[in-house]
Amino acid sequence: MNFLLISLITQFTRYSLAFTITEVEEPLTSIKIHANEHRTLNLDDARDAILLSYNHSRGCEVTPLQLQFETQEFRIIQPYDFTEKDFESDTILNFRQFVSMVHIKDGMLAITSDSVAYLLKFNYNTVFEHDFEEKGQKFARILWKADLQTIAPSLVAKNELPQLLFSPSTNLAFLLFSDTAQLFSMEQMESQTTSLDVYQVTDWRKRGYRGLTKEIDGLVFSAVGRDGLDVYKIVQKDLRFIKNLKLKDFGLNSTIEIVDFAIVKHGTADGYYSMFLLDRECGLLLIDVHRDQYVNFGLRSWINFQSGGISVDTRNGRNVFMAYQSMNHHYVLEYYVDLDNGNSFSIRKKRIDNRIIDLDATDDFVIVQGVNQHLILFSNGYDYVMNNHQDQVFKHLGLRDFAFFNQSYKLEDMDDIKKEYQYDDFFFGITAQSAFLTRFQMQPIKLKCFYHQSDVGQSFTYILQYNTTVEGVSDLVVRHTQMVNIEIIKTYFYEAEYYLLYSVCFLLGSVLLMGLGYVGYWFYNFGGIY
Ligand SMILES: *[C@@H]1O[C@H](CO)[C@@H](O)[C@H](O)[C@H]1NC(C)=O
Ligand SMILES: *[C@@H]1O[C@H](CO)[C@@H](O)[C@H](O)[C@H]1NC(C)=O
Ligand SMILES: *[C@@H]1O[C@H](CO)[C@@H](O)[C@H](O)[C@H]1NC(C)=O
Ligand SMILES: *[C@@H]1O[C@H](CO)[C@@H](O)[C@H](O)[C@H]1NC(C)=O
Repeated sequence: MNFLLISLITQFTRYSLAFTITEVEEPLTSIKIHANEHRTLNLDDARDAILLSYNHSRGCEVTPLQLQFETQEFRIIQPYDFTEKDFESDTILNFRQFVSMVHIKDGMLAITSDSVAYLLKFNYNTVFEHDFEEKGQKFARILWKADLQTIAPSLVAKNELPQLLFSPSTNLAFLLFSDTAQLFSMEQMESQTTSLDVYQVTDWRKRGYRGLTKEIDGLVFSAVGRDGLDVYKIVQKDLRFIKNLKLKDFGLNSTIEIVDFAIVKHGTADGYYSMFLLDRECGLLLIDVHRDQYVNFGLRSWINFQSGGISVDTRNGRNVFMAYQSMNHHYVLEYYVDLDNGNSFSIRKKRIDNRIIDLDATDDFVIVQGVNQHLILFSNGYDYVMNNHQDQVFKHLGLRDFAFFNQSYKLEDMDDIKKEYQYDDFFFGITAQSAFLTRFQMQPIKLKCFYHQSDVGQSFTYILQYNTTVEGVSDLVVRHTQMVNIEIIKTYFYEAEYYLLYSVCFLLGSVLLMGLGYVGYWFYNFGGIY
């Protein structure tokens, strides 16, 4: 506990050198609200806010920055897909269930424990529909289903979960195990031919451990634990092994166990990358990767020496997240990294109550994937700006694997959707039996007020404080202070009901007029008879 406190303080002093806080006094706002009416004000740019009441009134509150989720599930494996034999077998892998997926153009490729591959394509018009839950339509359809048993003998026999990998530039998909790898063409799968040509990767190195494997610009990097990091190159319909990286290549004399990595492009020139390499013993290293004729690695800086590493991820190369386990506790560290000079400093350290399986970062937040409970941590250059923020928990039962939607993985003729939707508007993936799609939306901080009839005629004063950062200026924080006056005014009808009243009056008026007209007409025609 003591240690944590000290480290927080030192970080803050390091930090306070790095940014300036400007105080801004905002003019007083007065808001009149009706009793029994909900009123909401968005604080669009605020990262954090607190509300104090002069009168100890609880009528208004601020809600934190959060993500709103909307999930649709599409069950694919049905109970009748199981045979008697499945129920007799005792290993969990024997049950047909999804074990791995990968984002491909316009959809996903998923594989089950008994090596059945499903090719799912998005129904974009449903995907981009905001209330898709109500429509009851499926966000994806199964385009093709293939039994890969012959090429990937039952995964149970291997007792290992495969990884799927997709290379957008070549449109090839890879099925990877620790000792074997196969590839096939997505184009052939998409044309729904009756047979699929599967190629064996002859140069695939057998390894005792296989962690994350990722493709970037035709290069494939694979974390292989004590064997370091393998690098392959995609050459036509094959992979060629080109390099193995060990820590001793950097002159470090230590045992090695690479568990994960994240790689981002560095600068505008082609062939330069920055890699965050996570070693279970040595901690997190920042590595320069340069590709010309060869692939060269250089140690840039050592970000931390924390052992017990589980996962590392970054999207922007600036906010870098690392998960680790120490004793029986799990933690997430967030670093702020300057790729140009290799400097970094810790923004926060957060203890997580559940086991961490993986981290997945976007530009705005990271999903800390647990077993059933996942956490959203908003990334931030300034954790201290968000002092009062509570991290958001979201539950997705049985989530196995997922990917964020990548705009560049969609059909060329769907260009118009780009205007409205951003990269990370949704993620999708698999549970044991289903595919799912989760839309999310950042909800700004809100000031919400509600008062009862008994408060009519009174006014309440609040002090609202909120922090904003300035777009393009990375070291300036503005703290706004604003007095908010809420006056509860008397009302008999709500605004919406006024409209109803008007329409009812109008209707009654018309009926009356028509009635009078009819009476007049009747008198005119038949009045003379009597
Ligand atoms: C590396 O470390 C081991 C044990 O710590 C030591 O025995 C060995 O001599 C070292 N090798 C080099 C090249 O420094
Ligand atoms: C804003 O940032 C300051 C400085 O880091 C911090 O003390 C404060 O708690 C933050 N939040 C609010 C609402 O002022
Ligand atoms: C989306 O895919 C493109 C092409 O492979 C890649 O360059 C880009 O980094 C990806 N974007 C994200 C957000 O993963
Ligand atoms: C709340 O406090 C303000 C400022 O002190 C005061 O003007 C107002 O009358 C108070 N309202 C109530 C309901 O006490």
